[in-house]
Amino acid sequence: MNIRRAKIEDLPGMQACNLRNLPENYSMKYYLYHCATWPSISYVAEDKGRIVGYILAKMEEETAEAEQPHGHVTSISVLRSYRRLGIAKKLMLLSQESMASHRASHVALHVRKSNRAALSLYRDTLGFEVHDIEQKYYADGEDAYAMRLTLKHD
Ligand SMILES: CC(C)(COP(=O)(O)OP(=O)(O)OC[C@H]1O[C@@H](n2cnc3c(N)ncnc32)[C@H](O)[C@@H]1OP(=O)(O)O)[C@@H](O)C(=O)NCCC(=O)NCCS
Repeated sequence: MNIRRAKIEDLPGMQACNLRNLPENYSMKYYLYHCATWPSISYVAEDKGRIVGYILAKMEEETAEAEQPHGHVTSISVLRSYRRLGIAKKLMLLSQESMASHRASHVALHVRKSNRAALSLYRDTLGFEVHDIEQKYYADGEDAYAMRLTLKHD
């Protein structure tokens, strides 16, 4: 298992992994936007040349005056047969470290209220807190927890 920064040539594998795991899917252009603009904050887990997990992330740098630059996790998933091995935790930690080096004050993400596995990863393992509840955030009408984790800087 190789966990490393995502490269442009990984994008089709990341998209394939996303399509298998989540109903929230994105155009190749959107993947490319992330990796071309912030090449150091998206990561992949690769096994025998196959992308088995990824984190797609970006920086929010041009936000309202009161808000500081912060990182945003657009999507993260791991193929079913590779779960509970610590891959998502590792992908999150690597991305968070890189966001901090971009002067991010915190990392933000959305998660379905019903997504027990992801909620446990964010809240119990990584220390995220619920910042807000966004009603009907998802296309099927489910609410999202908007979660945040303050990043530490050396
Ligand atoms: C959520 C997801 C990314 C977790 O990936 P993973 O590689 O299996 O997670 P990890 O092995 O790093 O788990 C770290 C911790 O998260 C929690 N966790 C992960 N999966 C869990 C589950 N099914 N049930 C409860 N807790 C879970 C545990 O606390 C776990 O630590 P432990 O294994 O020591 O108990 C994976 O289940 C997935 O791809 N799900 C579908 C896509 C998705 O929901 N993405 C998130 C969208 S917001």
